[in-house]
Amino acid sequence: MSDLDALFEAAKAVRENAYAPYSNFLVGAALRAPDGTVFIGCNVENASYPVSVCAEGGAVSAMITAGYREIAEAVVIGDAALCTPCGMCRQRLKEFGTDDLVVHVADLDGIRRSFTMDELLPAAFELEYTSK
Ligand code: THU
Repeated sequence: MSDLDALFEAAKAVRENAYAPYSNFLVGAALRAPDGTVFIGCNVENASYPVSVCAEGGAVSAMITAGYREIAEAVVIGDAALCTPCGMCRQRLKEFGTDDLVVHVADLDGIRRSFTMDELLPAAFELEYTSK
C-alpha cells in the first residue's frame, strides 16, 4: 500500500468515530509528518454549535501534542462531492504545512481532488507577519 493509500485509509477509518449528531456529516482527517508518522482526527460537535471542532483541528492538535510541527501531506474525507477544509482549518493547516504540502480531498470511494496549500489559501496570513 502506498503512503497516500495508507493516509486515505487512516482518514476513512477515523471518520467512523466522528461525533456529529447535529449535522450528521462525518469527517475524518489524516496528516503525515515528513518522517512518515500519521496523525488523525474526526469532527467533534457540541450542543453549543460553535464549540464544535473540525476533523482537521483534532488531527493538528494530536500532531502538536505528540511533539511534531510539520505536515507534509493531508487527507480530508467526508461523504460529499468535495469536502474541502473550511476557512479556519485552511489557516490551521497553513501554520504547519511544509512548503510542498498537498491536501487531498476524498469521498468514501477515494481521493477526488488534490490542492496545494496556496490553492486553498492564497495570500495567507503567516507567522512571520506577526514579528515586527
Ligand atoms: N467539517 C470538518 O470537520 N471538516 C471539514 O473540512 C468540513 C466540515 C465538519 C464541521 C461540522 O462538524 C460538520 O463537518 C458539518 O459542517
